[in-house]
Amino acid sequence: MYKTIIRPILFLFSPEVVHNLVVKAIKIGFFIPGVRNLVQHVFTCRNSLLERNVFGIRFSNPIGLAAGFDKNAESYKNLSAFGFSFIEIGTVTPKPQPGNPRPRSFRLKKDLALINRMGFNNMGVLYVKEMLKKSRGNVIIGGNIGKNTDTPNHLAIDDYIMCFKELYQVVDYLVVNVSCPNITDLKELQDKEKLGEILHELTSLRKKEAIYKPILLKVSPDLTNLQLAEAVETARRAGLDGFVATNTTTSREGLVTDNLKLNAIGNGGLSGLPLRERSTEIIKLIHQQTNGSMPIIGSGGIMKPEDALEKIDAGASLVQLYTGFIYEGPGLAKRICKKILMNQG
Ligand code: FNR
Repeated sequence: MYKTIIRPILFLFSPEVVHNLVVKAIKIGFFIPGVRNLVQHVFTCRNSLLERNVFGIRFSNPIGLAAGFDKNAESYKNLSAFGFSFIEIGTVTPKPQPGNPRPRSFRLKKDLALINRMGFNNMGVLYVKEMLKKSRGNVIIGGNIGKNTDTPNHLAIDDYIMCFKELYQVVDYLVVNVSCPNITDLKELQDKEKLGEILHELTSLRKKEAIYKPILLKVSPDLTNLQLAEAVETARRAGLDGFVATNTTTSREGLVTDNLKLNAIGNGGLSGLPLRERSTEIIKLIHQQTNGSMPIIGSGGIMKPEDALEKIDAGASLVQLYTGFIYEGPGLAKRICKKILMNQG
């Protein structure tokens, strides 16, 4: 029903309009007694065989919602009813910022893909921190942190420190995002010296905390294999716990969508099916380099259950969706869980 009736109607409107509408509709719908439980019942697969212990955290299943969907931590509890055991909120920056001018999110229907240049639009870390103090049920929360667009790279470390300090108490794990293609020069922070400085600072700060929480690095699919190896080694030396692989790509290779349309859309990070292969390759490379000692959350082009299994086979301990949730609808997490169970059993 989603693909034949609901999606064609939703796709009449711009992705950002639909996103805001759907989030509001879920919020209103969940006020009706019984609706949340019904949704949870329909879309969640419960089975102890799906449980995963990763980074010292117990996940009720290996499927999460990727960063960018719930940037301000306003809907994580509602979204978890669609079968996700974890939601990564953010990217959060120290100060609130509006992001890039609209339109800034586009569908490539023929490619089962999206291009976005949102530009870290968010309400700022203090707002997000308040939102995360609310009761959250048993969903695991990842806090994805970045820098403000107007913070120059040589001061970026201060932004990461501030977000880290504010969010540490209210999230279950943290993700350092230096891989978003939509913030000018951000990806330069993946360079080993700058990255090492930021990551060492964060792991030092963690030593002062009473409770140990995992810190992960989210990597770009556009790194060369050599750059990736350096970033992985830098993260390992700094004492990080794992990786999110990957963010969106600036590549437009192999797309079916015609160039005229792509040129009209312009810059932005590509997500969805065309990203699948490279992101799986990156997972494999990290897994090999670390001998599987640093867990990986696989993200990029998971459009069907088999794509999730491919990432798990490549070495991912958990997976996250974004674009697949848009194209395939609210049943995808459950379908993946069922497939995992079939394969395990
Ligand atoms: C994203 N993504 C993202 N990632 C991140 O670390 N911080 C962010 O703020 C965002 N924002 C964002 C907005 C939109 C509209 C999209 C489509 C994506 C990237 C996302 O978390 C994920 O890593 C990629 O989209 C790849 O996964 P999918 O979409 O192919 O499943």
